[in-house]
Amino acid sequence: MIVINSVAQMQQYAREHHGQIALVPTMGYLHEGHASLMVEARRRAAVVVMSIFVNPTQFGVNEDLDSYPRDLERDKRVASEAGVDVIFAPTAADMYPAGYQSYLNVEGLTTELCGASRPGHFRGVTTVVAKLFNIVAPKLAIFGKKDFQQLAVIRRMAIDFNMDLEIVGMPIVRESDGLALSSRNARLDATQRKQALCLSRSIAAAREAFNAGEQSVAALRDKALAVIEKESGAEVDYLEFRDQDTLLPLEKADQRTLLALAVRVGSVRLIDNTILGEG
Ligand code: PAF
Repeated sequence: MIVINSVAQMQQYAREHHGQIALVPTMGYLHEGHASLMVEARRRAAVVVMSIFVNPTQFGVNEDLDSYPRDLERDKRVASEAGVDVIFAPTAADMYPAGYQSYLNVEGLTTELCGASRPGHFRGVTTVVAKLFNIVAPKLAIFGKKDFQQLAVIRRMAIDFNMDLEIVGMPIVRESDGLALSSRNARLDATQRKQALCLSRSIAAAREAFNAGEQSVAALRDKALAVIEKESGAEVDYLEFRDQDTLLPLEKADQRTLLALAVRVGSVRLIDNTILGEG
């Protein structure tokens, strides 16, 4: 495995391996969820490039850019064991040099859910992902479905900007007790780790009611919210039942309905989601 830190060197490598590259974009602090993306990349392409870059433009002023967990040495070991060929870990100064002033914005989809709570977040995500696509020129890029809205926004961007690559979404990976894997879980203490289970439990409560025949979104939402409201350390940012394509609100749920939620546990904001008819 090689580690490339410079944009120019990455572009050179990309020219030499054109048409062979699967890209796994990450912000590092790798876990089993990332491992599943690496395995899929390995299966689909001759060359696997993993980018590791904690992208400053997708964090708001009061968000956790500084406390976002980082451990590049450990990430290198994990990536190498998973068969990654190249880690691309650029500096912020190389990605956003002095005089930088270009941003890519998807409208509509980004005004909902996390976009409503984190203004500017998706503008930063689409900007950096578009830059990574330009630099690495992959034939496909792989993202986790835990960031369901992010995946939808990136798919939209790729279509709207005629980006010539396949976007692949991979299922959420969970701990055995249901907690969705996230780099931010590392910031939970032991008590908060237990409290964080309210996200997957609220999904289970909604699914149980849905499977028992409840289709009213208002009733399903009450059931799911009750689980989180019972958990003293947790505070709901949003809990929404949405059309999985448009992300717009619904009154009646069906098998294709997306349940997406964001919950603060202490200072850590966690997200989770499910499609009611899956899982
Ligand atoms: O999901 C992430 O880790 C990030 O949002 C991404 C896609 C790597 C862009 O910085």
